[in-house]
Amino acid sequence: MAFPKNFLWGGATAANQFEGGWNADGKGISTADCMTRGSRTTPRMTTYKTPDGEVKGARFFFTGDAPAQGSQYGVFEGYDYPSHNGIDFYHRFREDIALFGEMGFKTFRMSINWTRIFPTGMELEPNEAGLKFYDEVFDELHKYGIEPLVTLSHYETPVALCNTWNGWADKRTIECWERYVTTVGNRYKGKVRYWLTFNEINIAQMAPYMGGGVGYSTPQIVADTCKHQFLGSARAVQILHSIDPNNMVGNMVAYGATYPNTCHPDDVLKAKLVSRGSHFFFDVQATGKYPNYKLKEYERAGIEFHLTEEEQQLLLDGTVDFLSFSYYMSSVTSADPKVIEDAKGNFMGGVKNPYLKASDWGWQIDPVGLRYACNELWDRYHLPLMVVENGMGAQDTLEADGTIHDPYHIDYLRGHIQEMDKVINEDGIELIGYTPWGCIDLVSASTGEMHKRYGFIYVDFQDDGTGNGDRYRKDSFYWYKKVIASNGEDLD
Ligand code: BG6
Repeated sequence: MAFPKNFLWGGATAANQFEGGWNADGKGISTADCMTRGSRTTPRMTTYKTPDGEVKGARFFFTGDAPAQGSQYGVFEGYDYPSHNGIDFYHRFREDIALFGEMGFKTFRMSINWTRIFPTGMELEPNEAGLKFYDEVFDELHKYGIEPLVTLSHYETPVALCNTWNGWADKRTIECWERYVTTVGNRYKGKVRYWLTFNEINIAQMAPYMGGGVGYSTPQIVADTCKHQFLGSARAVQILHSIDPNNMVGNMVAYGATYPNTCHPDDVLKAKLVSRGSHFFFDVQATGKYPNYKLKEYERAGIEFHLTEEEQQLLLDGTVDFLSFSYYMSSVTSADPKVIEDAKGNFMGGVKNPYLKASDWGWQIDPVGLRYACNELWDRYHLPLMVVENGMGAQDTLEADGTIHDPYHIDYLRGHIQEMDKVINEDGIELIGYTPWGCIDLVSASTGEMHKRYGFIYVDFQDDGTGNGDRYRKDSFYWYKKVIASNGEDLD
């Protein structure tokens, strides 16, 4: 069946993963710029100098090897930082947008790199060259009738904020953020109507450096970081609504179905409790209130938490207009610690699902889980939904004649689009858009690799630094073009 007439078909990217030009035209250093290239087997590192002057790298995920307090993150000689070149969208955006136009995109998700506009985050005046770059990008998109969908923060906190007061762990970051949001909101009024506040806001729990520019972390610091980002998100909603009542502002959470390993009541309950880990973020941003289960959890963990009356009001006034999320996979959990311990599991941990296949990177493929996730969110919040990331990272082969045959990408996306069809036409859910991740090949966030490719467009940059950056249409490019042209009816 057809998708709604105005359904926003498109693709998604993030500045730090595809722009390159990391220090061009006055841009400052973001947290992502200090992250090295890794691989499936070698973790990415964030580089820093200790108070003793030693340069080191720390794993960025799950807090990793925590650097000593007072360490300064930065870019150092001898390391390979993939964000520095990305795929050079900074210089090639016209060519790339023409390809998005050729596919018939209705929307394009991208982030503004905060450090292009405010290099350290603390300036009082913006960097005009950075503002001008995005003016040109938005104008180019509109030339093709493509509506920009802009993430305000996609793992790109100015590293100076991280080094000065531990990023979003400190309340002062909110003031810098307000200045940034007000600046871009005013500048791009009329050019950008769809906004997302923080990409995968829940990731700050597992990767505080990446999600919140937090260089030094404890459970208390993670709770403070979440609170400050919630307040920042609510302020962004207020600011953008006051600049233009037509602005639509959404949140963004990394989300997936959580299944119980068995029908044992303990497993079923455990799955519910685990899914609160991400529902918490929707709860606050959709209802404006901290849920009781989180307050109790903080109490048990001895975490101090307080909201002033003004902050409580801000959260209530700054709820989002729609909910967005990334969906790549589902996960399975068990109440039995032994089962969890033995589990080889999925990428995000947990028990392996015997009914599902996985990508080469261990991400288990589950289109039905997307339908499950949409129903969960709709039943809880009754707000319009947008799937702003989905896809499968895979290794592509560029053939001698310039073709790329990627049936695995097509199969993955087809399965998920078929489920979205049911979400809309059987479940009656207001699903308003779909932007598959990495519509053009870009740097992987978790591994920093180029050869984990999601795109409809192949980019000839390789992990060893070779490649000329030329763009090639994959088979999936022509397939997605047909999907959009038929508004989701022709999936063959
Ligand atoms: C999401 C992020 O978690 O997943 C993106 O918002 C990221 O930034 C995407 O790139 C896919 O993950 P990866 O590690 O394959 O790049």
